[in-house]
Amino acid sequence: MCGIVGYLGEKKATDVILAGLEKLEYRGYDSCGIFFHVEKTNDFITYKDKGRISHLINDFNYKFDNHLGIGHTRWATHGKPNRENSHPHFSFSTRFAIVHNGVIENYRELTAKYIPDVEFASETDTEVIVNLIEHFATELSIEEAIRKTLSLIEGSYALLIVDKQNSNAMYAAKNKSPLLIGIAPNGITLASDVMALVEHAETYIPIEDKTFVSVFASDDKFEYAMVDIIGVPVIPKPLKMDIVLEDIGKGGYSHYMLKEICEQPSVVRKIMDKYLVNGNTVIPDAIVKLFQNTNRIYIVAAGTSMHAGYVGKYYFEHVSMIPTEVFIASEFAYNQPLIVDNPLFVFISQSGETADLRACLLRVKELGHKTITITNVPTSTLAREADHFLEIFAGPEIAVASTKAYVGQVTILALLAYIVAKRKPFDLHLELSKVAIAMDAVIDNREYIDNLVKDKLTKRNCFYIGRGLDYYTCLEAALKLKEISYIQTEGFAAGELKHGTIALIEDGIPVIAIISQAHIANNTRANIREVMARGAEVIVIALTAVSDLTDDIVLMDVNEMLTPLVTVIPTQLIAYYSALHLGKDIDKPRNLAKSVTVE
Ligand code: AGP
Ligand code: GLU
Repeated sequence: MCGIVGYLGEKKATDVILAGLEKLEYRGYDSCGIFFHVEKTNDFITYKDKGRISHLINDFNYKFDNHLGIGHTRWATHGKPNRENSHPHFSFSTRFAIVHNGVIENYRELTAKYIPDVEFASETDTEVIVNLIEHFATELSIEEAIRKTLSLIEGSYALLIVDKQNSNAMYAAKNKSPLLIGIAPNGITLASDVMALVEHAETYIPIEDKTFVSVFASDDKFEYAMVDIIGVPVIPKPLKMDIVLEDIGKGGYSHYMLKEICEQPSVVRKIMDKYLVNGNTVIPDAIVKLFQNTNRIYIVAAGTSMHAGYVGKYYFEHVSMIPTEVFIASEFAYNQPLIVDNPLFVFISQSGETADLRACLLRVKELGHKTITITNVPTSTLAREADHFLEIFAGPEIAVASTKAYVGQVTILALLAYIVAKRKPFDLHLELSKVAIAMDAVIDNREYIDNLVKDKLTKRNCFYIGRGLDYYTCLEAALKLKEISYIQTEGFAAGELKHGTIALIEDGIPVIAIISQAHIANNTRANIREVMARGAEVIVIALTAVSDLTDDIVLMDVNEMLTPLVTVIPTQLIAYYSALHLGKDIDKPRNLAKSVTVE
């Protein structure tokens, strides 16, 4: 969610920051801003406003030589998206500038206690931080003043601070919100996502919670120091920058979402490559044992990742014979269910940064339970903080609507359930290869889906219906369609519709049915007849083995357990093309963020 970028080095800071902010755009934001030092005049410039980074780039002047700056994309939590509330914010004398991602929970109390007379220029919680720093800096050194402020603020933050009296330094701190430092001999970059560091760093370090970082330039050298909030040095552990730039471009596709949909067969093949070597699985024994020895699995996730969790529950219960429950992260954190002895907690998260999940992980760790994170980002907070993690290997997912990460999560869950199972019901390698081929076939035929939705998805509402595994796909399909097309869509267990919601069916309302499971195919067909009788415009997606001549989208047959990996593909394409025809901002839908880093 939102992002920050800061730079001190030999390159032009505004170039690094603006390009970095563009790379973070996918995370979602409503306003943006930049603050930089001008060498020639030894002055500082601020540009900020509601709106897109393209406006920040095109409408202002960056011709001045500059080597220090900080930038921000804001996802408003306190106060409307407007110029006043956009970051950076300044201390009362304007000496200190700050950009902040996160939420300061005790900002009112701190204001009343320490700086009751300071007049704030915005409605944000952020301003309290920068004003406290100046307040304490009257008696303490800058570093001490910042650390003292950090010791008082409660909540989440990734911060960058500049002192106008020193254009050779920049300060940073983080708690709960992500922040990484990128290191190169010619400069230091700080950003909330590794993507903004790729081109400027040889090594990088994901900064730990409650760490304070100072960055300095002296004699053409750029250095950093890390301490905890009381000033004890933190030993940095730099990682090699091994992210490929092409992986984060659009690669000729009109949208990241379409590129990512098309990459899904390769994601399945890559996971097979990584985890199924010469017919043997290479998931660490310690992880396999966790599953084999638990009495119950608790899957905790949000949104699309939670939908993958439902499919995972089906796999663990039907293939591995382990009772499994799935929880919405934001519910679990504050309404904890009764937990059995010897539980295993599985956190599923594309980004590995979702704040709702992190709150659960911390709680579960306090209780002493075993934890594993399944994520696409191995350097993420949830990967680092769980006992174990498994990587999805989907490659960077940029579109806000998750597609290839979902397919990666379901594939990993199938793999885990299979490895843990005492009796292997089929040859997983062979069956997953067939899945990748079936996915390819839908993707190659995507123009057909483009034409189909042009005529049929024209109403304000839509329903997906299915049973069993197909029901879980319906939940995911409905989320995808609503989040990018803004067509109000719900996923229903096909049999449940007639218990109330069928009242909404009227002439021309689209109902999309998914049929992949032979034992319930006839039941779903009966439900289709019920909605058709009430005027619904039905689209049927079915596997060949259970298809009828009149079905709209017929998919290649794959193993019944693995059908969610194939049936989800046309639903993603339906969402993509509907949004395209409606002229929506597909990769960055309104009000949404890629990484939801506030609770
Ligand atoms: C997916 O299309 C959504 N944008 C959203 O539901 C997402 O899956 C959810 O916010 C969880 O994110 P995570 O997987 O990064 O934890
Ligand atoms: N809470 C701050 C604000 O509302 C920061 C929001 C963000 O994370 O962008 O301005």
